[in-house]
Amino acid sequence: MPKILGGSLERDTTVTAENPAPALSALLRTGSQAEHTAAEGSSFMSELLAGRINAAGYAHFLGLLRRVYEALEDAARELRDDPLASAVIDPAIERLAALDADIEHWGATVVASPATDAYVARIQQSTSWGGLFIAHHYTRYLGDLSGGQAIGRIITREFDLDGAGVAFYSFDAVPKPKLYKDAYRARLDALPLGADERERILAEVKAVFGLNGGIFAEMTTYLDQYGR
Ligand code: HEM
Repeated sequence: MPKILGGSLERDTTVTAENPAPALSALLRTGSQAEHTAAEGSSFMSELLAGRINAAGYAHFLGLLRRVYEALEDAARELRDDPLASAVIDPAIERLAALDADIEHWGATVVASPATDAYVARIQQSTSWGGLFIAHHYTRYLGDLSGGQAIGRIITREFDLDGAGVAFYSFDAVPKPKLYKDAYRARLDALPLGADERERILAEVKAVFGLNGGIFAEMTTYLDQYGR
């Protein structure tokens, strides 16, 4: 609550002068480091990046990712005018068309996935508050624009691709991912959020890493089928 001091209205706690909490972008980055490390270390990711997953396994994974991005991009349409979520929503970085092109290349697979069901349900619930959706948006798209860029190069090498099949990692509208990410972080940091709200977004980011980890864990159960 704002306090009246000497007749003037003091600034609310959402303002950093009284509130030394880190900017949202820094909070999310540092606050989810352990979860990020766990995601990087998942055995499915390690096997994939070591070139030990076959094409059928990668196609399976793309099919699951498609469901995730379909839910993300449906939610983004719903929240297009939301005062918080609209700060990050950008049709230019949407991945569904790229995923469809890749799925076509690899051969589509529709596989039942309780881990993906849980993730999609959580994305759908996140439309109840723009801040929650931001957590979902940040964790996937900023990841795709970061480590995802290196992952795309490794997939290209390991599967000996000549450009087709890795549209997911290539953002035609973003020639310089670093500049895009800097601007994205600046938009996050300009949001008028209180400390509790920022913590709620961080908690959701951690949950989103966990849901991605759930998909990796599920993929791991297929390793004997997809090894090469
Ligand atoms: C083997 C797997 C992965 C590798 C090698 C990897 C690597 C990286 C690297 C090197 C960065 C830092 C880039 C920079 O400083 O700009 C980064 C950032 C990030 N990664 Fe990953 N990553 C992996 C998996 C994931 C997964 C599964 C997710 C989430 C689903 C994810 C989400 C993120 C996010 C959100 C950032 C941005 C952090 C920030 O700057 O706020 N990463 N990743």
